Amino acid sequence: MLQLNSVCKNFGGLPALSDVSFNVPKGQLTALIGPNGAGKSTLINCITGVLTASSGSIIFQDKEIAELPAYEISRLGISRTFQNLRLFPRLSVLDNVLTGLTCKGGRSMLMAMLRLPYLRHRERQLKLRSLEALDRFGLSDKINWPAEVLAYGDKKRVELARATVGRPDLLLLDEPVAGLNGEETAAVGEQLKLLRRAGHTLLLVEHDMDLVMEIADQVVVLDSGRCIATGTPDEVRRNPLVLEAYLGRVEATA
Ligand SMILES: Nc1ncnc2c1ncn2[C@@H]1O[C@H](COP(=O)(O)OP(=O)(O)O)[C@@H](O)[C@H]1O
Ligand SMILES: [Mg+2]
Repeated sequence: MLQLNSVCKNFGGLPALSDVSFNVPKGQLTALIGPNGAGKSTLINCITGVLTASSGSIIFQDKEIAELPAYEISRLGISRTFQNLRLFPRLSVLDNVLTGLTCKGGRSMLMAMLRLPYLRHRERQLKLRSLEALDRFGLSDKINWPAEVLAYGDKKRVELARATVGRPDLLLLDEPVAGLNGEETAAVGEQLKLLRRAGHTLLLVEHDMDLVMEIADQVVVLDSGRCIATGTPDEVRRNPLVLEAYLGRVEATA
């Protein structure tokens, strides 16, 4: 579904990504792991058009997207969450999730002002879908709350509801359970499994190794901007390069 070929990204001459190449197969969950500063968020930003890769190609469903702006990439069916939350603080939880549907439901201002019956019907549909998404993430009782008053874990879930409500072909999640407690992590983990079972393709950046090992079909390891290993969770776990670069360091600092 997604093919990265020799993707490079430099910040002021310093390489954050060097020659990163791997595939994200359709219908699978690919986990992207690596120590802090490895380039994981930078890669997600390049795929979604928040940043433009310095060189290399990014092919999504046979289309080159490396140079496209973020709104066009989102329209093609790629959705994401951010490592640092990006909700609209004053908007209600429901409105935040509705913004995840605007690219598909968008109509001209004139049509919206005319309030044609078709549009009213469409609005109801979008609202219903947003309510369903909020229900999936256990937020039904907070739909009218302004996003800013929510607890951190709830904010993370609103982001997940917003990212999934449009039923994207490819879903990129940047540390969706970071900062959540054990119970919340398990609940989000279950949701990710459900999404995977429903046929979504996912690329998941995650530090929680237990979660990654449990739910990933494929694991890609980045270290200092380079892809040092790709394989099944078991293969990656046994790879000496990975043990040294990643797991070793985690154990050493634990
Ligand atoms: N906007 C930016 N400007 C300059 N350097 C950046 C920027 N974003 C990330 N970096 C640098 O790129 C490297 C990779 O960062 P990042 O992608 O956030 O890593 P990760 O998500 O794996 O922790 C780091 O050295 C970071 O300091
Ligand atoms: Mg990051």
